[in-house]
Amino acid sequence: MNKKNLTDMPEWKALEAHYEKVKELHMRDMFASDSERAARFSIKAEGIYFDYSKHRINEETMRLLIALAKASGLQEAIEDMFSGKKINNTENRAVLHTALRAPKDAAVNVDGVNVIPEVHAVLDKMEKFANKIREGSWKGFTGHPIKNIVNIGIGGSDLGPVMAYEALKDYSRRDLTFRFVSNIDSTDFFEAVEGLNPEETLFIVASKTFTTLETMTNAKTAREWCLNALKDEKAIAFHFAALSTNAKAVSDFGIDTANMFAFWDWVGGRYSMESAIGLSTMIAIGPDNFKKLLEGFRSIDNHYRTAPFEKNIPVIMALLGIWYADFYGAQGMAVLPYEQYLKRFPAYLQQLTMESNGKGVTRDGRKVNYETGAIYFGEPGTNGQHSFYQLIHQGTKLIPCDFIGFAKPLHAIGRHHDLLMANVFAQAEALAFGKTKEQLEAENEKPDLIPHKTFEGNRPSSVFLLEKLTPETLGKIVALYEHCVHAQGIIWQLDSFDQWGVQLGKILAGKIAPELENKEIPELRHDSSTNSLIAEYRRMRK
Ligand code: F6P
Repeated sequence: MNKKNLTDMPEWKALEAHYEKVKELHMRDMFASDSERAARFSIKAEGIYFDYSKHRINEETMRLLIALAKASGLQEAIEDMFSGKKINNTENRAVLHTALRAPKDAAVNVDGVNVIPEVHAVLDKMEKFANKIREGSWKGFTGHPIKNIVNIGIGGSDLGPVMAYEALKDYSRRDLTFRFVSNIDSTDFFEAVEGLNPEETLFIVASKTFTTLETMTNAKTAREWCLNALKDEKAIAFHFAALSTNAKAVSDFGIDTANMFAFWDWVGGRYSMESAIGLSTMIAIGPDNFKKLLEGFRSIDNHYRTAPFEKNIPVIMALLGIWYADFYGAQGMAVLPYEQYLKRFPAYLQQLTMESNGKGVTRDGRKVNYETGAIYFGEPGTNGQHSFYQLIHQGTKLIPCDFIGFAKPLHAIGRHHDLLMANVFAQAEALAFGKTKEQLEAENEKPDLIPHKTFEGNRPSSVFLLEKLTPETLGKIVALYEHCVHAQGIIWQLDSFDQWGVQLGKILAGKIAPELENKEIPELRHDSSTNSLIAEYRRMRK
């Protein structure tokens, strides 16, 4: 572990000095003076063309950033993760989502046991189950085949499955209905089962811990909904499956552990979409496509592990994020997929990135004196352009953007796809080069409108261009961000794999809930604001 404070490292200091020299450089001039810039700052690997030339960097910047990564022990840290070392310090756990997509003949040991056979045993069990549902041979309690699959989970037990289902809808069985319940808001459950026949509905209760309040509350409601219609406890075994690390809690809940698909404490919730948590995905797209998804992940795992940092896409992504967060003071990061099927990808990424690197102390508990994880947000293109891009183009904040686009559409209709992709390239171009006062004057723009129509440019973006959205390319894209998060966490010296920040609110909600429900509680002992809110709520509920 690197004990030296990040900002005391000579590599950091070199970057600080370098920043002072280059901070005013404009991409317009950097492109004008270097006809090879696009080739210099782009990587072709694993079927991805990654163009990072429209960034406020030069060769020296990248050399210094890579020196920082090396001095931070990133190469060793990558090996530590892949080989099953307990790198999640605060929970004393290995971090092995990469083992979930490792081939059958791989060997990764945790506490002296090779976990790969277990991983593949669960994948095989999932495959059998998914095939039964898809073939209609898994029958509900009254003998009807299952037509509706409702995944109940939250956080990593929801966002990955929803994102993957939406992303791969074109590969999914259209005659099956997939719904997802996450929120404890009863509306979510109400709408998820609206119009469904309980006799044809399978609930998948997805929870690593099987204790999460939202999921357990929704699962109990689902149980009642099912029993109301089917009137027999025995029905539960036909209509419920569980995805969890906690066999005891699953069986206490009344779900037959034969219908339980296991995973392990070394799979973080936000890194679990290709574990048993992906059962709904496998039912939707089929086991063969699920295997292709895993292959996509695996190809980027190999790339991250073996490519030199200069040619390593997740490492470069991570370094660019650090360059803007810590030297330019950027707070945000926009992820902009130009593919409607990726509409839930930004939401998925929010948990992956912000729950991982939204930390203010180092692995050994020191308060950081530098910026860490950015605020991720995004919308599919071109919708975002007609919403928040104004701020990115002309606002006072620097927001680096990741554009994700595909050469081939999944539905070729008229000019749509070329128009869509023209917008990707145009946006990246506009952000980088802007529009000057001189250009506007040459166009005879009205003088009083010139300040409003001027685009400063010099706003950074990367473009990821892939051939087509497939299960495999989805796996690649997700793995790129997973590894970017890891690399940033190492350099920022964070534990990217715990999430203590979610605890306090859960504990306080546990105290407040009975105060809302029980009219007899005489005195509220919170601050005056919370007391008043509770009192007003109780008054309005009467
Ligand atoms: O509260 C945060 C969190 O622990 C996430 O990290 C996790 O993905 C989510 O809750 C759901 O947890 P579980 O799968 O154990 O229900």
